[in-house]
Amino acid sequence: MSLIYFDPEKCTACGTCSEICPVHVIIPGEDGVPSVPPENEPFCVRCGHCEAVCPANAIQGNYETFSPENNLADTEQISPEVLKKYTQSRRSIRAFKDKPVEREKLEEILETVRFAPSGMNVQPVKWLVINDAGKVKKLADLAIDWMRLMVEKDIDHPLKQIFPGLVARRDAGLDPICYEAPCLVYAYAENEYAYTDSIIALSTVDLVASSFGLGGCWAGLLQIAAREYEPLKEALDLPGGNVPQYALIIGYPKYKFWRIPGRKQADVIWR
Ligand SMILES: Cc1cc2nc3c(=O)[nH]c(=O)nc-3n(C[C@H](O)[C@H](O)[C@H](O)COP(=O)(O)O)c2cc1C
Repeated sequence: MSLIYFDPEKCTACGTCSEICPVHVIIPGEDGVPSVPPENEPFCVRCGHCEAVCPANAIQGNYETFSPENNLADTEQISPEVLKKYTQSRRSIRAFKDKPVEREKLEEILETVRFAPSGMNVQPVKWLVINDAGKVKKLADLAIDWMRLMVEKDIDHPLKQIFPGLVARRDAGLDPICYEAPCLVYAYAENEYAYTDSIIALSTVDLVASSFGLGGCWAGLLQIAAREYEPLKEALDLPGGNVPQYALIIGYPKYKFWRIPGRKQADVIWR
């Protein structure tokens, strides 16, 4: 069975599939029906662009993939104004309602996010979802344990100056790492190369979550501790050989933001 099936009954030999293929593995046949020669198959990244672009719906990938029920013919283009306002109004949320996050919403978010881009379409990002405020707090406390050790042993670290303040806030009964969030979404993968893919996927989680009325904040301090502190790594308990990439806390925002704060102008070189 060939990797990609081109239905000769439906194919109109328009050539769009071979034109759009990012790795140029689709070759037009003599009769006009394209094919992927066996020697080209290893280079296919299974991105599905050929299937998705074919106006005649004549292409079927013979590899495991999970598409949503879809037909984009009637999909309206989202307006730049709507997307601009939506993107600019996303905020980091550090105060949450005392309300758990519904698992179905998290499933919907991750269902959306699995279509985020990844290098060579490897799709290496996996998820650890800790949807339990008590368990999130335990991880945050482990990060504080690490910072406390760093302070006590006077160990050098680029963030050394902020550790005493964070420890003091924890000792005062606050959670300066995960802000008592009800949920933590950790992107993990088999190796460090997946870092950029993980950040893209998490950024998409952050953006999509707000369409569900949720809000997120990057748990950078937790990730910094997770890279260095063995007890925190152990508590994450990822399947063997996997590396925690980055995390986002999620919950229902306690406060509504009424305005978009200012930011630097875009710093652009035009050529
Ligand atoms: C990589 C990364 C790590 C971050 N880590 C933390 C963190 O550990 N704690 C925190 O309160 N905010 C963290 N933030 C949130 C930033 O402080 C926030 O994005 C920035 O202040 C801008 O605010 P906004 O996201 O509401 O526009 C992080 C953001 C990024 C992108």
